[in-house]
Amino acid sequence: MKTVIEPFRIRMVEPIRVTTRKAREVLIREAGYNPFLLKAEDVMIDLVTDSGTSALSTRQWSGMLGADESFTGSRSFYRFQEAARSLFGHRHVIPCHQGRAAEHLIGHALLTPGSVVFANTHFSTTRANIEEAGVEAHDLPIPEALDAANPHPFKGNIDLEALNAGIRKAGPARVPFVILTVTDNSRGGQPVSMANIAGAGEICRRHGVPLLLDAARFAENAYLIKLREAGFSEMSPREIARRMFALTDGVFLSLKKDGLGNTGGVISVNSDEWAEKIRVRLLVSEGIPTAGGLAGRDLEALAAALDETLDEGYLAHRIASTSRLGTQLAESGVPVLQPFGAHAVYVDGRAFCDHLPDEQLPAWSLTVALYVSSGVRSWETGNVMQGRQDPATGRWQWPALDLLRLAIPRRVYTQSHLDYVAEAMAELHGHRHEVRGLRFVYRPPVLPQFVATFEQV
Ligand code: F0G
Repeated sequence: MKTVIEPFRIRMVEPIRVTTRKAREVLIREAGYNPFLLKAEDVMIDLVTDSGTSALSTRQWSGMLGADESFTGSRSFYRFQEAARSLFGHRHVIPCHQGRAAEHLIGHALLTPGSVVFANTHFSTTRANIEEAGVEAHDLPIPEALDAANPHPFKGNIDLEALNAGIRKAGPARVPFVILTVTDNSRGGQPVSMANIAGAGEICRRHGVPLLLDAARFAENAYLIKLREAGFSEMSPREIARRMFALTDGVFLSLKKDGLGNTGGVISVNSDEWAEKIRVRLLVSEGIPTAGGLAGRDLEALAAALDETLDEGYLAHRIASTSRLGTQLAESGVPVLQPFGAHAVYVDGRAFCDHLPDEQLPAWSLTVALYVSSGVRSWETGNVMQGRQDPATGRWQWPALDLLRLAIPRRVYTQSHLDYVAEAMAELHGHRHEVRGLRFVYRPPVLPQFVATFEQV
């Protein structure tokens, strides 16, 4: 059989409000041409993120109904701790309310000004937390990752030579840790290979520097290793994920992605000294060590998810459905980033809107045009999110890739929803030179994508 069916049945539904193009033109103008500032009810298909938007399973809901909401030491925490420890394999499990809270705790507890952190690519909030601590954050992607059309199977890999040279140059004592983001969300949701994690681990060990994973999409990374890396096709996603984690000194992650939670995050480390420092910060800013700001029911939903998300049938469908959307777009001439990852399909904004210069923010302008034409909300990871202005000269430095991201919530949309998205994109491509450029009206100094406003050029 060619058709890969959704491996679930739908037992509760939420209506979608249909809007007209005319209404959407007004709504997006009122939102300052920032799709992030739209009301969600004004969006027909919401592909702004795969974060916190999963549909929960019957198993998660039944765990939530039986949750223990005791202030401290709840049964739900111990269930979560057991699920996390048996997967990540480190001694200490520290829950917190989402990914950037984990980054904030690590930044405050473990970083001192003047240090340097290397990563394949720091996600925007990770970079913001590291830089806020007075620390330099350097990205070291492999060169293939900078070319949207390059079919390299592991474009999330870190450049191992550059990592070794970077640690040497900075001096290992100035490098508190190295981060691998799996999958590499900011560069197209591309996976990191097991060989690359092992190689980075080896370099780190030689220099006495710990290796951490930002593992928000660990299950998808594990499944892409199974499909693409020699020697893993017979292993289960869980075995592969465990092997990835075993190569590290710790992981921190948002549990709103592969953790299938509507909220949640976690830090898992071996070092007693690190755990103690992080828990002190946790008590000040997040909550007590057996909750980290989460309710017992959140911990129950997450405990069940850490098992469910590694289910092979679930992952096989997820990857098939994402690459089906990517293939439909490619076949209709839309320039898409290759190869397809798992959580999203990325469109090359500069190639799509080749009539717009970087200053007119091609990928961002395309997110606005897509919303107006179809009611589909997407997000940019490109010139707005990663562009930097030199404070001395005022000149802009633009990132290597300016991408529109169609992020797919887990277990929420059916094949016909995604067919509609493919059709909308293809139609827009037919009129691509009508996409109007935008310029900033308001740009805050950090994380501009969440609050910036724009006007049409
Ligand atoms: N790390 C990665 C790789 C992420 O993709 C995100 C969030 C975070 C950390 C922060 O986690 O949102 O729970 O605080 N990514 C979302 C996205 C926002 O849409 O890609 P958070």
